Order: sequence, then structure tokens, then C-alpha cells
Amino acid sequence: MSETAQTYRNYIGGEWVAAADGRTTENRDPATGALLGHFPRSSQVDVDRAVAAAKTAFEGWRRTPAPKRGEILYRVGALLAERKEEIARILTSEMGKVLVEARGDVQEAIDMAYYMAGEGRRLFGAVVPSELPNKAAYGVRDPLGVIACVTPWNFPTAIPSWKSMAALIAGNTVVLKPATDTPHSALKLVEAFADVGLPPGVLNLVMGSGSEVGMPLVQHPDVAGISFTGSSEVGREVNVEAARAFKRVTLELGGKNAILVMDDADLDLAVEGILWSAFGTTGQRCTACSRLIVQKGVRRELEERLVERARALRLGHGLDEQTQVGPLINTGQRERVHSYMQVARDEGARILAGGEMATEGDLTKGAFYTPTLLTDVKPGMRVAQEEIFGPVLSIIEVETLDEAIAVNNDTRYGLSSAIFTRDVNSAQVAMRDLTTGIVYINAGTIGAEIQLPFGGTRGTGNGHREAGLGALEFFTEWKAIYVDYSGRLQRAQIDA
Ligand code: UN1
Repeated sequence: MSETAQTYRNYIGGEWVAAADGRTTENRDPATGALLGHFPRSSQVDVDRAVAAAKTAFEGWRRTPAPKRGEILYRVGALLAERKEEIARILTSEMGKVLVEARGDVQEAIDMAYYMAGEGRRLFGAVVPSELPNKAAYGVRDPLGVIACVTPWNFPTAIPSWKSMAALIAGNTVVLKPATDTPHSALKLVEAFADVGLPPGVLNLVMGSGSEVGMPLVQHPDVAGISFTGSSEVGREVNVEAARAFKRVTLELGGKNAILVMDDADLDLAVEGILWSAFGTTGQRCTACSRLIVQKGVRRELEERLVERARALRLGHGLDEQTQVGPLINTGQRERVHSYMQVARDEGARILAGGEMATEGDLTKGAFYTPTLLTDVKPGMRVAQEEIFGPVLSIIEVETLDEAIAVNNDTRYGLSSAIFTRDVNSAQVAMRDLTTGIVYINAGTIGAEIQLPFGGTRGTGNGHREAGLGALEFFTEWKAIYVDYSGRLQRAQIDA
């Protein structure tokens, strides 16, 4: 039986257009392998057209008052809210995450739209005194120009919204390149902008691979800034390319996030937080918990409870409301996750639960992997250091809070960490000493809210933050303005 599916198009200069050479790529459901659609496989020509459209639109957009730009974002937020269920279903079908989480993904875009719409009436600058009389001094934020947003498949609506909405409210124009595994969710986001009447060229969508679209975008001389979320390997290349042209770049890369559980913790709560953070989104969040750092006194009990609960998690299609854990994004990723089981054994870790591809019934059609617990893990082992990006939790035993914090901090990533404790002093020490960009007390490592800065230390990125106030720092540059109303030449640093 031959499969048929709709063909979708890029959005360039306010028009829905096929890739210049007409090529497409198949989009398939990771839970079933079913064909969902054909999406453009674009190339340099399409990139050039999109950047040209964004460049042309920049002058008009930057001069559009920011509150008016905000009104457009507000309408986008309202439209996304109306279409939330439709988009969530599309997202689950192409990405695999369970429907409740897909709704959360879309909700994050709605939240960001409203938040950034409000920023249109703030975009705070700075008013400071001048050292000279009859002279005013202030700093304003200017947009950078054309921004390339290169986004991953794990938050197919949320992450494109974080990047594009922050860039747009600040007066930049955007070319968005979504991940090849999840083009449709990004298309639905862009469609909302098109439907509320965003001027042509302000936001453009070019679908295709990293090598044919992503890199050409990064290298394009008319692209002023790049916002990238993805793997450390690709992030490094993006960073190097951006550096060659002195371009501003923000990178959000891997994580090896840990939950610390102290002997005095509320274990019922800790178990819920661990399961949600380790196996939610099938472990495919940058913020996912992949290390459990547990104090000796509660290790055994916690392990027993986690094994029982992990084994009971229901795998299945994300659209089935009974499903708790969806598939991995594709079979290649599943191979990668599975290869870590041998790595774990070779290094002396033990598999307590899972560690296998799912073999029951319909699960064989998709990229399903059983929720996995590894124990006897030592802090230096590869399974305690490398980002696996799947439903795999490595359990490390420690004696003290200080040791737990030291183990947490000793990785090349630094995105998110969490501690379960009932001791107010321990919590305070953790907040002070955990060196990740995000710290949770008595909650898991996932679930960042968009009004706070999002990002991490060390190899998780390059020091920038997304969302919240941090986003505007990246997407604007300061212009210092001096207004001398003395009517004479006043010389700073020289005249008294
Ligand atoms: C990511 O995995 O890259 O904090 C983003 C969270 C979500 C965003 C995760 N709000 O888990």
C-alpha cells in the first residue's frame, strides 16, 4: 500500500513557497512510522531568499513602535491559545511526547507571546546622570538586524517561540530553521504570525537540514546574530563559524542534570519529582534528570520504589491518554541510547530496570525504549558524565551534602539541578553552591517558566540566557545617547 500525505511549504517574504528546487523530505510519526507529510528540503537559494526578505523587512519593523510589535505578539498568543489542541496533536504525532506535555509545549509558546507582548511596553533602557550640566544621558536598546533561529526537535513549538518572539519584540527580523524531525509544529507557529498580519519578511521559515540550511544561514553575511539550541557538537561548529564573522551567537546545548536526595527528604515527593524529570518527554529534555545523587541512608528504599514505579510506566502512542512515556524521536536515537547500556556494564554499573528496546505489540513499530535505572554508578563514569538524551537515570550514592554538591558540579554541563531536603539550611547551602543555571528546591529538574532566565553554565552554553529578561540582552545592543542642551561645547573628563 502506498502512503499519501500532504506537501507543506516554506514561508518567505510573506508567501508560502516550495523549496526552489522542489525537493521535499518525509516527516514520520516516531511511534508508528506512519507518513505525516512532505516538507521542503531547502538549500542555499532558499536561505538567500529568506535572508533577503528579512533584511528588506528590517527597516520597517525596527521603526514600528515596540508596543505595536507587542500587539501582534498578543494576537499570536490568542490565536495559539485557540489552536492549542490542534497544534498539540500535530506536535505529538511528529515528536512523540505525550499529549499533556505537547499541550504544555504549546502553552509555553502562548506564555512567551504574552510575556514578550508586554515587553513591547517596557524594553527598559537606562537613564543616568551626565557629569556635565545641561546634558542628558541615556542608554537604549537597538535590534541587531536579521537573526537566524536554529531549533531542536524536543520542544518543537516552545523553543522556536522563545527565540523568535524575543528577537521580534526587540525589532529584529527572523529566519527560523526548525529541526527536520519536527517541521510541522514550527510551521503552525509561523502560520499564527501570518494569520494575524505580521508584515511580510519579518518572520521567515526555511525547512531543511543543518548542512543545507542551518550552516548556510549561520554563514550568511546578512545574518547578524544566531540563536541555536541543539547538540554540543553542532553548537561548537556554529560557534566557530559565528566567530569568524564576529557574529553574536547564543548556544543552548546539553545537560547532565541531577537531583540530590538527602536522608531527610520527603521520599514520596522525591519519587514523583525523579520519575517526572527522568522519564517525562522520554528523557529528551535538555533539563531532564539523568543523575540521581542520593544520600546513603535512603538509597535502598528510593531504589526499590523507583524500580517498581519505572517498570509500571505505560509506554505507547502519545495521543493515547493512557500513555505515560512516548517513543524516542527516531530509531537512530534509540540505538544511541541503547549503546550506553554496554558502556554502563563495561564500567561496572548495574541495570536495575529497563535497559531494553520495547518488544511488546505495537511498540515494535516505533522508537520505544524502556525506562531505565542504572545503579552503582560512580561520578566519573561515562553514564554519569555524557548526555544520553533518553529515559536513562544513573544513580550515584554519596555520604554528605557537600559530596552531593561536589558530584553535581563536576560535569562539563551546568543547566539544571534540584535538591529534595526538609532541612532549610541544606536547601540554602544548595542554592548557594550548586553551579547550574537553574536550581530547584523540592521539585524536579524540569519545568522552567518563561519569565525567568533559561540557560546553563560550563559546556551547556556560552553564557547567554534565553527567555525572561536575559533574552533581551542577547537580541539587542546598547546605544548610548548624549543630549547636550547647554548651547556650548562641553568636554567630558576635561571641563570642570
Ligand atoms: C529543553 O529541553 O531544551 O524547563 C527545554 C523545561 C522546559 C523547557 C525545556 N520548560 O523542562
